[in-house]
Amino acid sequence: MSDHLNIRLFRFNPEIDVEPRFEELQVPTFENMAILDVVMHIQNYLDRSLSFRFSCRVGMCGSCALYVNGRPRLACRTQVSALKTQNITIMPLPNLPIIRDLVVDMEPFFEKWKKIKPYYVSRKDIVDPVVVHPDSNEREFIDEMLDCIACGCCYGACSMAATNEEFLGPPALNRAYTLIADKRDAIRVERLKVVDKSYGVWRCHTQFNCSEVCPKNIVPTRSIQNLKKRCVLKKIGVFK
Ligand code: FES
Repeated sequence: MSDHLNIRLFRFNPEIDVEPRFEELQVPTFENMAILDVVMHIQNYLDRSLSFRFSCRVGMCGSCALYVNGRPRLACRTQVSALKTQNITIMPLPNLPIIRDLVVDMEPFFEKWKKIKPYYVSRKDIVDPVVVHPDSNEREFIDEMLDCIACGCCYGACSMAATNEEFLGPPALNRAYTLIADKRDAIRVERLKVVDKSYGVWRCHTQFNCSEVCPKNIVPTRSIQNLKKRCVLKKIGVFK
């Protein structure tokens, strides 16, 4: 690895900038350096005013997603060495409004999340706690989908989210699927009505962009296809 990186960094402060700009910077490298270390170095030693988000640093909180060399990635889990170049362009996540520099407004993202009611609602006819064994078919079916950390990488990669503001997007639809697939949930049919819309599952063109970039290896496209199947089953009266 080279002893320095050539960084092209997106900057935008709406209080003083008329439009976004790029800054060219050099950052020294060290072993096991991640993209989060790069932006921290810039903030600590080159420009205190640089804005970005992070919290856990271990790929759990989902707050550090950035657009690095043309792809959404978690900054804390992206090793500089994995990019195999010393020229790195760092930008905010696409498809969301920019607040400042690398910080995007997650409000539209979570508004869509809210629409599908992202919490479990228990059926009134189930009195005792229902145990779902970790190795049961029901659990295995949605296992990987439950790992979503709502980082927004898939949303930033989605070309449908880029062109249609109303589209619910891969993360909300993936979350909806984990609940609709759960027979204990009391509002599965109601949830299905929310996603069975032109701005819901039918807007997805099955391009797999979301699945390609998910840092947790989830395949939201598969969840969306499964939701489409259930929408059709509901129309012919098989899904209840
Ligand atoms: Fe929490 Fe990167 S800082 S996922």
